[in-house]
Amino acid sequence: MKMKRSVLVAVVLVFGLGNFSFVVFRSAGETRKKLWSAGEEKVLRTRESFNGHWRFRRFGMHPEIPGERIPEPSGLEDPVYDDRTWREIDLPHDWGIEGPFRNDLDNSTALLPWRAIGWYRKHFRLSSQDSSKSIFLDVDGAMANAKVWLNGHYVGEWPYGYTSFRFDLTPYLCFDGENVLAIRLDTEHLDSRWYPGGGIYRNVWLVKTSPLHVAHWGVYITTPEVGEKEARVDVRIDVENQAEEARSARVKVRLLDPSGEVVARSAEVAADIPSMGMHRFMLAMRVEDPQRWDVDHPVLYRAVTEVGEGDRLADVVVTPFGIRTLRFTASDSGFLLNGRRVDIRGVCLHHDLGPLGAAFHVRAAERQLRILKEMGCNAIRTSHNPPAPELLDLCDSLGFLVMEEAFDCWEKGKGKNDYHIHFPAWHEEDLTAMVRRDYNHPSVIMWSIGNEVPDQNNPPLAKRLAAIVHREDPTRPVTAGCNWGSAGFNGFQEAVDVFGYNYNHRSYTRFFTDPGTKHIPFIASETSSCLSSRGEYFFPVREGPINRNLPGKGIFQVSSYDLLYPGWGVSPDSQFVMNEMYPRIMGEFVWTGFDYLGEPTPYNRDVTNLLNYRDPARRARLKKFLNELGTLEVPSRSSYFGINDLCGFRKDRFYLYQSHWRPDWPMAHILPHWNWPERVGKITPVHVYTSGDEAELFLNGRSLGKKKKGPYQYRFRWDSVVYVPGELRVKVWKHGRLWAEDVVSTTGPAAGLLLESDRKEMQADGKDLVFITVRVVDSKGREVPRSHPYVHFSLAGPGRILAVGNGDPTCHEPFKAHGHSVFNGKCLVVVQSEPRPGTLTLKAKAEGMDAGVIRIKVK
Ligand code: GAL
Repeated sequence: MKMKRSVLVAVVLVFGLGNFSFVVFRSAGETRKKLWSAGEEKVLRTRESFNGHWRFRRFGMHPEIPGERIPEPSGLEDPVYDDRTWREIDLPHDWGIEGPFRNDLDNSTALLPWRAIGWYRKHFRLSSQDSSKSIFLDVDGAMANAKVWLNGHYVGEWPYGYTSFRFDLTPYLCFDGENVLAIRLDTEHLDSRWYPGGGIYRNVWLVKTSPLHVAHWGVYITTPEVGEKEARVDVRIDVENQAEEARSARVKVRLLDPSGEVVARSAEVAADIPSMGMHRFMLAMRVEDPQRWDVDHPVLYRAVTEVGEGDRLADVVVTPFGIRTLRFTASDSGFLLNGRRVDIRGVCLHHDLGPLGAAFHVRAAERQLRILKEMGCNAIRTSHNPPAPELLDLCDSLGFLVMEEAFDCWEKGKGKNDYHIHFPAWHEEDLTAMVRRDYNHPSVIMWSIGNEVPDQNNPPLAKRLAAIVHREDPTRPVTAGCNWGSAGFNGFQEAVDVFGYNYNHRSYTRFFTDPGTKHIPFIASETSSCLSSRGEYFFPVREGPINRNLPGKGIFQVSSYDLLYPGWGVSPDSQFVMNEMYPRIMGEFVWTGFDYLGEPTPYNRDVTNLLNYRDPARRARLKKFLNELGTLEVPSRSSYFGINDLCGFRKDRFYLYQSHWRPDWPMAHILPHWNWPERVGKITPVHVYTSGDEAELFLNGRSLGKKKKGPYQYRFRWDSVVYVPGELRVKVWKHGRLWAEDVVSTTGPAAGLLLESDRKEMQADGKDLVFITVRVVDSKGREVPRSHPYVHFSLAGPGRILAVGNGDPTCHEPFKAHGHSVFNGKCLVVVQSEPRPGTLTLKAKAEGMDAGVIRIKVK
């Protein structure tokens, strides 16, 4: 059925009102009858934030005292249990990030006390008007092993901390008194190779619908035909009847284009649905002149699904979606988005948000994505688990391609209490939850069933998992990140649609030349693992595997020339060579976009690192090396892999990727800084990252030579510069024309603090965040690179300091504080608004320096 654009008949408005959002029907130019709505305007389905006013207490492992336990009393699910002394909190919440850092804990999970038994209780009342409704609890993520009770009744459990789940509360609710919801989480029986956090760390919702309603994740939209002139849009709708008697349902859908105009209407279809039954409706529509979703043009359509019952409107669901085509080829065409080759310039991201821990904040994720966008990144791999749903909303609207990943292990675990203990009973449930929750996101282009699973010798198992994903969503390919060379040839490669090697350069060539793998599309699913600490440089400059190149005992930083990596990794430059040599590679996912909590390779103390080595000799060598590290007091608690540090401050590497990923963006970046009083007369190499093709370096006005980029060369190096203080300047040309310049100067002593925020205003909603960078500057306003003063903060106005940090992977100062030390010239303050307007004033003071101040409007 074709519809003309001009048939504008109705608009759905989604209002956000504090913690409460609802859908209201407004008719515009059309009588209500056509929409089945006989009465006055009506709230049909509500989805209330259920984040506020929880009571929380932790038991089990003591957060501060090694070896001590806080006993967990019984009966905590009982509605009459007196929880008035419990702490009042709002979600999202991560109990681990509160610290303290403890050297007796594992540094692979950040030295933080995230292991505990946590109880959350919430008291709430419902209006008697809700008594005829179906009422659900939607949890976007709870770490981990959740068990849920309502009014003392056991509602259910959900072990995996990374998938979202729904429980039907309807049978246990009361409408004439108080309800008590109790959730028990257990992270004591959880192992992780990175910091998982602990708690209800994502959003929680209370969803109310009429008994006849669209089922959970019950709208599935596909676009099987997309042409220049027309696209076909198929909408599958599962309608559930929870009424005591059969109901007859009528369903129709209309599509709104990115400007909100109705561009297609489905036919109306009807069915009788028995009590507690479900019916699947299939509707097809055509959209003329479809606007394609693309990384540079991330436009979203919306499907408005209406369920009618008699002449009453029973449910309305609005589903954003995109119209775009995906093609994954095994030829040199690589990956085609809307018929055009798009190189996947991706990064892997863990779920933590640095100093905020695992607690999800939309604004923090948005900031990360904007930093990545500026770098030229166009893709995210959600390593190694499904993300918060809002991350995908952001990817949809900012134009990122997503490889969404399910697991870090299957039947065989990497640690004692890994997911493998739940795998037999839960893998199907979790995979299904991942795919159904996210199958309408245009940003999601492939599903990864696993990362470096120790079951890479089990192709039948991989096939089984791929079949579950295909059953749920036949429109996207299944992939996996494999670190065993053999997985490319033992049948595993046939179990997936797109084969991914993590690292493994040596196997690339075989994969590309073997006749048996010619037909399999290939992605570099994980690359590089380059290591660096922001603003740290060690001499002489070394390159290669880090275990042969550690700076020396007691220095737990990694040099930032971006030439060091673990034994399985390579420099960013070497990966660029591979990508250029083999156009069949659809692109790469760099490990990682940002530093994350835990896994502080090369300064780990845990042995999961050895999982990367199958060769017994290399494994033994590494084991010895790890043992030696273990005998030192290793302070490291967060990773060195990030292109950006834990606070989101750009490391040098940001500019290396930007120079390669944004060839049309004029830029040049010099490293290192030029404050080396102890190196006068010593060789101090200078490297330049630029999108230009020719560069000349000047030290105090004297040319140190002009260089041209050769093939497979991604940086300029002047490796024999002799340090004298002063000014380094680089001039860059592209195709013979002046293109960019960069200057680095020796600064004067630290004179003051300069505060800069990523936003001038914030919303008075109690959720919004602003990220304030504190920089130590000299009298001329230049950042002083090796300064480390302690800064005290004071905040006035409608907000609170949510977290502080500095990006130093060895720093043990708390993230929740009103002061922090600077690391190499910078530290960060994250401020959250309160739900009232006004002006925030943040003051920063450090000894012997001019104070800094910044004001932010809250409205
Ligand atoms: C990979 C693994 C990642 C991370 C990385 C560090 O092998 O998939 O989770 O551990 O190594 O280099």
